[in-house]
Amino acid sequence: MSAHLTILTGHSRGLGLALAEQLLATGHTVLGISRQRSPGLDQAAQAASGELIEWQADLADGAPVCQQLMAWLQARAAAPWQTVNLINNACMLPAIAPLSKSDPADLARALRVGLETPMQLCAAFLQATASWNAARKIMNISSALGRRAMASQSAYCAAKAGMDHFTRCMALDEAHQPQGAKVCSVSPGVIATDMQLQLRSAPAQDFPDRASFEGLHAQGQLSSPEAAARRLLAFLARADYGYEPVADVRG
Ligand SMILES: NC(=O)c1ccc[n+]([C@@H]2O[C@H](COP(=O)([O-])OP(=O)(O)OC[C@H]3O[C@@H](n4cnc5c(N)ncnc54)[C@H](OP(=O)(O)O)[C@@H]3O)[C@@H](O)[C@H]2O)c1
Repeated sequence: MSAHLTILTGHSRGLGLALAEQLLATGHTVLGISRQRSPGLDQAAQAASGELIEWQADLADGAPVCQQLMAWLQARAAAPWQTVNLINNACMLPAIAPLSKSDPADLARALRVGLETPMQLCAAFLQATASWNAARKIMNISSALGRRAMASQSAYCAAKAGMDHFTRCMALDEAHQPQGAKVCSVSPGVIATDMQLQLRSAPAQDFPDRASFEGLHAQGQLSSPEAAARRLLAFLARADYGYEPVADVRG
């Protein structure tokens, strides 16, 4: 049985899929949560030493998933885990448009998936594992856009800025616990995934920065999901992980 457990949201494609593959290859038990299952990941798990558990859930509604997670973790509390991680990776871009043209339901959904549910999952994880002897870590996948404003990106920027700031608060909470979790909100750099494609395909009249995303792609400046995942997992494994609650994996 694995001694390492990682709960990973948004594991079905993009950066999350690469994280799941690499965690499974190094013997982690991975609980992946996305709306879709990931074809092929089962085989990767069988070929590797890790174990894969997949939950299909819409993270726009976090409360039932958190309840399920609490019960699932409580049922595994007696296992001899050495490390237990939560990686909040799932995120969605709402339609790329100025706030004045945005749909209220679309904005609410982006904030739920990108901010509300990650916060709820952190709370559930911290509560359920508080008495565990394992080293506990949370990595919230943030973005440079949580730290820099961009036109037509209000909800995404707000979700990531909120993620950075609640992680700072959570780090203070955990510093007061005898065996508090190490937590960090990490910007992963720019990565060749569906999200970048969505940015490059946005209507130019609504998105003044579209050309800069096209430029990054044309100049080959996007990391592959595999390279970005490797950097993030190396960062998570550092002895000083969580020393800074908000970081950029590029240093
Ligand atoms: N790509 C970049 O350049 C870049 C830059 C900075 C930060 N980031 C951050 O890196 C993380 C991963 O991004 P990515 O580029 O890999 O994105 P992506 O390719 O769009 O993948 C998003 C993942 O989130 C899941 N997801 C989206 N909405 C969901 C929902 N309602 N419920 C459950 N799961 C949902 C998707 O799975 P399903 O569709 O199966 O649900 C998918 O696995 C995100 O937090 C993003 O903000 C990315």
